[in-house]
Amino acid sequence: MTTHTAVDVIRAKRDGARLTDSQIDWVVDAYTRGAVADEQMSALAMAIFLNGMDAAETARWTHAMVDSGEKLSLDVGRPTVDKHSTGGVGDKITLPLAPLVAACGAAVPQLSGRGLGHTGGTLDKLESIPGWRAQLSVDEVVSQLQAVGAVVCAATSGLAPADKKLYALRDVTATVEAIPLIASSIMSKKIAEGAEALVLDVKVGSGAFMKSLDQARALATALVSIGVDHGLKISALLTDMSVPLGRAVGNSVEVTESVEVLRGGGPADVVELTVALAREMLSRAGISADPAAVLASGEAYETWARMIRAQGGDPDAPLAVGKHKHVVTAPSDGYLTTLDAYAVGVAAWRLGAGRARKEDPVQAGAGILCLAKPGDRVTEGQPLLELYTETPDAIPAALESLDGGYEIGETPPTRTPLVIDTIRG
Ligand code: URA
Repeated sequence: MTTHTAVDVIRAKRDGARLTDSQIDWVVDAYTRGAVADEQMSALAMAIFLNGMDAAETARWTHAMVDSGEKLSLDVGRPTVDKHSTGGVGDKITLPLAPLVAACGAAVPQLSGRGLGHTGGTLDKLESIPGWRAQLSVDEVVSQLQAVGAVVCAATSGLAPADKKLYALRDVTATVEAIPLIASSIMSKKIAEGAEALVLDVKVGSGAFMKSLDQARALATALVSIGVDHGLKISALLTDMSVPLGRAVGNSVEVTESVEVLRGGGPADVVELTVALAREMLSRAGISADPAAVLASGEAYETWARMIRAQGGDPDAPLAVGKHKHVVTAPSDGYLTTLDAYAVGVAAWRLGAGRARKEDPVQAGAGILCLAKPGDRVTEGQPLLELYTETPDAIPAALESLDGGYEIGETPPTRTPLVIDTIRG
């Protein structure tokens, strides 16, 4: 391998040059080993933030991050397909989706994370089920995929360790929001996980990482391009995140809503997105099945119950509900015109559903139920939102975040489509 120096690589990117494959392989490997210092990688991340990387550099960067750790080999006797969401408010879709797609015949390895900030984490939600265990060994993942078809668990620390180190550094150097770095970070973990197909749910709107459609489209295009370069069957759906998904935002409340969907009910938007993502996943996995019919048949619920039991959880156990409740009512008659996803996400987080630092605990029963959604007709005094928490001192801060986050007007708002576009690789 040609040897380089960190200063040469930083200088090249600072001056707007393309990095060569050899420079990228060297710098990612040397950083993971500790031979390139944090301050040098910080400077390089900022140079990438300012001067970008093209599609080929980003693909190589991703490749180098995958190579920094282990790669799972998921030979489980059925096509493997995964989904990744860039994160949103009330985004519990993994919970009904993984068992639904498994019930249709695919294997769904869903290695997930915990929540940080205003978007919730899938593992935090599932941990509100008594007994459920997030930490599985690779052998347990493989045998659960063979037996049940779906597994949602914590990613092992051996997957893409370069990303783990780099992400922590980006977080404290104002270099998170660079599309080549975000795309390579997400895709390195997904490629290392070993699924053959991947469907991305790239969220756009106030409650999402990407606030504008242009930014979301650029991220989706970069993600799909990396996937294609690595031989994945891949699609990205651009979906609206200006309003919370469904009615429940929090941990146990989102599990309850997901079970309603798996039992054939639940809010229309959650059902619509679950079925749209399932169709795309099945098409990428080469399976012809009708997910709407499988959802209605109850088979997806059966798979959910087996998936939860396989990880030590009791699918029939009652879930925690925050002991303190506060109701927000409509200030006037009219139509609910706005319910801002970011405001609701921050309020739920302040109530205890999310964490400010990685090591903070979350409250299983904290969260918000949105009793009205934009377009609903409401009357003065009607309950709009129910807030739940174990820590009543948190309620004023949650109400402050909701201030201005909902509006009532005389005419119903125009509806934005939930699925805005699909980009296929
Ligand atoms: N999620 C990731 O995994 N990585 C990023 O860089 C941003 C969001």
